[in-house]
Amino acid sequence: METQITQGDLEQITAGIRNKYSGVAESPEGQFKYPTGRAGLEALKYDAALIDNLPDEVSASYCGVGNPFSLGAIRSGDVVLDIGCGAGVDTILAAMMTGPEGRVVGVDIVPEMLQRAENNLKRVDLKNVTFQSATGEHLPFPDDYFDVVLSNGVINLIPDKDAAMREIMRVLKAGGRLMIADQVMAGGTPKSLKDRISSWFQ
Ligand SMILES: C[S@@+](CC[C@H](N)C(=O)[O-])C[C@H]1O[C@@H](n2cnc3c(N)ncnc32)[C@H](O)[C@@H]1O
Repeated sequence: METQITQGDLEQITAGIRNKYSGVAESPEGQFKYPTGRAGLEALKYDAALIDNLPDEVSASYCGVGNPFSLGAIRSGDVVLDIGCGAGVDTILAAMMTGPEGRVVGVDIVPEMLQRAENNLKRVDLKNVTFQSATGEHLPFPDDYFDVVLSNGVINLIPDKDAAMREIMRVLKAGGRLMIADQVMAGGTPKSLKDRISSWFQ
């Protein structure tokens, strides 16, 4: 039975993710089995007062799978990292919560998603947000740097989950908080490696 994931398989997974999410950057509508955009934010019970502050073009680009803010508070002055920020909706919401004393960085591997995040940022009046290109497996930040690491619908897409968790624990300050929303596959993975790879980014 095929079990080993090769370098070629990893390249296929990454190429598939880039291909899928360059389209999602234009609009996530109809690309997932769950509600996206404003309907997704409402279904996941994001704070209504905060989502009312989002321009329609910003909330429309949301494609998270859960509400990481339901796991605890973001405090005024917190320094926050959003891994796999996509179009930056959680990043922007977190920055509203930290206030100008805090700061939020969003990272993603898909250039079109980061461009959409930059465009979204221009639509809100926030000076404490930056976006940059990076993978969750190699975070370009010092040790003990963040008060909070957020991630929404991303860890399931990362091939080397151990590396991602090591990086998260490294950049989190002692006593820092990890707020992950994600999805898991129930009922086992497809038997053949080929089917597992093609199911990765559907
Ligand atoms: C389901 S979307 C969620 C986007 C955003 N968090 C949200 O809630 O709207 C998954 C995001 O993860 C990004 N992604 C996939 N693999 C990644 C990796 N290895 N490192 C960082 N981001 C990744 C994708 O480009 C995409 O923007």
